[in-house]
Amino acid sequence: MRQEWSNKFGFILAAIGSAVGLGNIWRFPYIAGENGGGAFLLPYFFAIITAGIPILILEYTIGKRYKAGAPVSLARINKRFEWVGWLQVMVAFMITIYYFAIVVWCVSYIGFAFTQAWGDDPSSFFVEYLGLTASGTELGGIQTNLILPFILVWAVTAAIMYSGIKKGIEKACKICLPVLLVMVCILVVRGITLPGAADGLNYMFAPQWSALTDPSVWVAAYGQIFFSLSVGFAIMVSYSSYLPKETDVVNTAFITATANHGFEIFAGIGVFSIIGYMALSQGVPVEDVAGSGVGLAFMTFPTAISTLPALNALFGVCFFGALLTAGITSLISIIQAVVTGIHDKFDVAYKKAVTIVLVPAFLLSMLFITGAGLTILDIVDAFTNQIGIAACGLLEVLLICWFFDPEVLRKEANEFSNFSVGKWWTYCLKIVTVVMLGVMTILNTITFITEGYGGYSSLDIGIYGWGTIAIIVIVAVILTGMKGKDGYRDLSKIAAKEGK
Ligand code: ALA
Repeated sequence: MRQEWSNKFGFILAAIGSAVGLGNIWRFPYIAGENGGGAFLLPYFFAIITAGIPILILEYTIGKRYKAGAPVSLARINKRFEWVGWLQVMVAFMITIYYFAIVVWCVSYIGFAFTQAWGDDPSSFFVEYLGLTASGTELGGIQTNLILPFILVWAVTAAIMYSGIKKGIEKACKICLPVLLVMVCILVVRGITLPGAADGLNYMFAPQWSALTDPSVWVAAYGQIFFSLSVGFAIMVSYSSYLPKETDVVNTAFITATANHGFEIFAGIGVFSIIGYMALSQGVPVEDVAGSGVGLAFMTFPTAISTLPALNALFGVCFFGALLTAGITSLISIIQAVVTGIHDKFDVAYKKAVTIVLVPAFLLSMLFITGAGLTILDIVDAFTNQIGIAACGLLEVLLICWFFDPEVLRKEANEFSNFSVGKWWTYCLKIVTVVMLGVMTILNTITFITEGYGGYSSLDIGIYGWGTIAIIVIVAVILTGMKGKDGYRDLSKIAAKEGK
């Protein structure tokens, strides 16, 4: 019998838990700031409406109708589509191993926040904490100070995963999400009442209209939506495969997207008003201190926390606690995407599937607690996101909309929905999303080929960037070619066996 969420609310919480993640708290503010501030919001909302919500409805419908994770669901649509599902699963697997490392850092930083152990120079502190080496090939050994949080996070993650959908994932989200919300509210209230907050918010929201004519801003908006909504890399198909048939997926998709993007903007207000205060107290413009990527969370923000007038420990714990809770609920969803894929195709018990995924993920994630961890993470993150997710999303939409009939899925989505999705849904996916994702995949690939990424050496880019893409493709091809359990592509047989 396939597991199920306890009810629709349980599923919505898990889906929001997956969507609201590290990407919302540190990625959104700096992506918005760097890409036209307020003007970024236009492509951002455009991307939510034309791609984010339509794909979410699509993935919920696929998972619910075909009752399996991405590879087997796609195989049930057409047996020649299965490989795309495995590509998505492999992207999820690669994200798992580095996402995990960031969660580990959050645990350490909650501890550091109590005394602001990062001192006067959080940037050097972070580099020292990681034992950062000069390149990705100079591993520098496992950093002993990271071993304890590493084991702790793995133990908690494994405990959740082995407990299954309802008792593990759903319960974890029921505990983590309220805690997350309270911590972010504390940060926002503190942030907006500080002097200088307006400067920080101006940086994030004041429009630079010229940015709208820059294609890279549009590409950044679509990239943010995919990562943030957890679509395009097997997660939402996997989660919705544990839904009963009668679920209203249309309104569920709107709820998930609204909660995710509302939270993203809300958290951004907290983060940037505090950074605005820091800039004011240092007498420098916000753009000089904003930082980006991992640097924003682990270098800029600790500095900002230290400059706060009072209760620094509380705000530090709230910030890293928020990252930790948001990170855990997303991490488990990314792992689940892989577990569901394995469990559905091969005749293995659920817990065994968890072990099959966790053991290699555990071993590979050790790479990220070596001295080269941050370098490798930065490269693997860029390639999996900017090429992996973009290409996987594109292939999924392309196959469904151009080589299958999306109207079948639209009818299915509408069957149990309070309000129906119109034809706009099909057009958005078939044309707008395909064009945007196509442009995104091509532009990003050309940029990586011609310019490399982040100033890293070609050796590092070759091994960790293109190497990641090669691993994703090779393993996906192998998994597609492997023999699955008898009749795994045949929905009616499985449904009969499961008593549906
Ligand atoms: N949606 C998750 C995040 O934003 C993966 O981090």
